[in-house]
Amino acid sequence: MKFNEGAASWETVIFLYNSALKEVGTKLDILNDEFRHIHNYNPIEYIKSRIKTPESIVKKLKRHGYESTIDNMVRHVNDIAGIRVVCSFTSDIYRLAEMIGRQNDLTVVSIKDYIKKPKESGYKSYHMLVTVPIFLTDGVVDTKVEIQIRTIAMDFWASLEHKIYYKFEGNAPEYISRDLRECAGIVSKLDAKMLSLNEAILQARKEQSQDGNSLA
Ligand code: GTP
Ligand code: MG
Repeated sequence: MKFNEGAASWETVIFLYNSALKEVGTKLDILNDEFRHIHNYNPIEYIKSRIKTPESIVKKLKRHGYESTIDNMVRHVNDIAGIRVVCSFTSDIYRLAEMIGRQNDLTVVSIKDYIKKPKESGYKSYHMLVTVPIFLTDGVVDTKVEIQIRTIAMDFWASLEHKIYYKFEGNAPEYISRDLRECAGIVSKLDAKMLSLNEAILQARKEQSQDGNSLA
């Protein structure tokens, strides 16, 4: 069964996207728990999920020149169901992305690595478009979910930049865009510093415990 077979209702479509969010959210919770269980460490700080509002679905369709139909929204709007995963360190992002990629029942449709290649604005984040099968009484529907993975610092920048962007409706004066790009650079430096600090802490603890063992 496919979404675009027959006239799926708005309620059905939203029900599917909500189910997909639950499925992916649970998977991420389990990955985090398993990681804590094995390594005694939480890669995920927090997860936020949302369903795109009807207004912003319609706006996006319009922007891309499509009529507002359910068929078009299912086909062309990839971020109706969105999950944002906020990690402590950049290394956690790639670790998590790899773990997500290994889940047999998720299909990775596309990846956009805005960490290796930040956007013009300075935006950094790792995006994965996946589909998850939703099992219904009369069939299975592969449903799209956009996963955004980023560090706390990247999330901090993106949230504030988003607010400022909206204040100017996309027409921010050049000096503001420039300052925001500069802030993005500071955020990247902070992330790199925190990552190396964490590595140093782990190393120091390892050495301490080895010393402790040899004394015993
Ligand atoms: P959208 O139409 O904005 O969804 O963009 P897209 O479909 O071309 O995909 P893209 O990968 O560029 O962006 C997907 C999502 O990433 C957006 O909906 C935002 O949540 C986030 N994003 C992308 N660029 C920026 C940016 O410059 N600043 C902020 N704050 N968020 C961004
Ligand atoms: Mg979007």
